[in-house]
Amino acid sequence: MEINKLASEKIAGKVVLVRADFNVPLKDGKVAEKTRLEESLPTIKFLLENGAKRIHLLSHLGRPKGQVVPELSLKPVAEELQKLLGEPVEFRPAASLGINSFTAGEGKIQLHENVRFYPGEKKNNPEFSAKILAETGAEVFVNDGFAVSHRAHASVVGFAGKIPNLAGKLIEKEIKNLSPFLSKEKIAGLTVIIGGAKMETKTAVLKHFAETASNIIIGGALANTFLVAQGYNVGESLYEEDEVETAREVLEMAEVSKTGVHLPVDVQCAENPDSESMYFPIDDVIGSLKIFDIGPRTIASFREIIAHSKVIMWNGPIGFFEKSPFDSGTEAISREIMKNKSAKTILGGGDTLAALKKFGIAKSEFTHVSTGGGAMLEFLEGKELPGIEILKV
Ligand code: 3PG
Repeated sequence: MEINKLASEKIAGKVVLVRADFNVPLKDGKVAEKTRLEESLPTIKFLLENGAKRIHLLSHLGRPKGQVVPELSLKPVAEELQKLLGEPVEFRPAASLGINSFTAGEGKIQLHENVRFYPGEKKNNPEFSAKILAETGAEVFVNDGFAVSHRAHASVVGFAGKIPNLAGKLIEKEIKNLSPFLSKEKIAGLTVIIGGAKMETKTAVLKHFAETASNIIIGGALANTFLVAQGYNVGESLYEEDEVETAREVLEMAEVSKTGVHLPVDVQCAENPDSESMYFPIDDVIGSLKIFDIGPRTIASFREIIAHSKVIMWNGPIGFFEKSPFDSGTEAISREIMKNKSAKTILGGGDTLAALKKFGIAKSEFTHVSTGGGAMLEFLEGKELPGIEILKV
């Protein structure tokens, strides 16, 4: 995939507009998880070091639905970014609704208020993107928000055809690391680990890897839907009745392609997350029991597969990792992936990052940690992402 990349001569002396994805978790008015901010630094530093005249940063935070929601202000992000950059970052608030409240200031680096406070953002309203260009005087647009590149919103695709559109350093890194997984051929030694709760966003990825991976490990509530498809009773565990047929299709595709699909053989259950938990073989899950994590035999077999893999791709937690003791499956999997230093290891998804943080595992232990959640999955399933299409040569 050939894309227009950042280069000194394309930005020197110019006003540059950057779409980043600073959609980060906040806690008590502060940034609680900084990965997406840290990952945006190479582009901002490149622009500073190569003579950009001014940098205007755009991002969303949460889903405010075209309204001003004070708790979703990017102000705390501006403060954190300033600390990480070691340079002043001018925060540009949006005083009220409507595109006229989008104004530029004087600062060399300016972060504008949450673009989703403006109704024109999600509708890709051309008046909104025109207003941004007029106010900032931007001469070049850099998309560096990989995680939002699956959205055809104004701040992502609205500047295409108006000023040059370039890929930022983060987008370049994500494409480089994720592109090899687009192969339609079998990838030798590839193990794909998919967890989380919902099938909908993962169906296409599961079908893709059912044909190209050696092994697929399925965890989280997603695994329950597959267990039901195989005829197991999952008690009162979370699963998706209307996706059982899709799970069967994935299993059939994997069988045809000789891809091993690995589901839990034992699980940690409780009546609810606060009651006492016990391990059960998967055949013994009945009545009001709910599955919250995988059991020790499953952990051992998943670890064995991971240890013998050459390429590992992981998205989505394996159990209810937010609550101890249901974090043991996800922690064991993270540590085993980290241990396999001869493998290429690619991770992604907001919950996966949160899990690493909880276990105190540094992202640098892996080959690549994607900043994308939905965008990573859509990229891997081979979909064209609007925010990447605008960057193609
Ligand atoms: C994400 O967190 O996946 C991105 O920031 C996109 O957010 P969205 O799903 O609200 O568009």
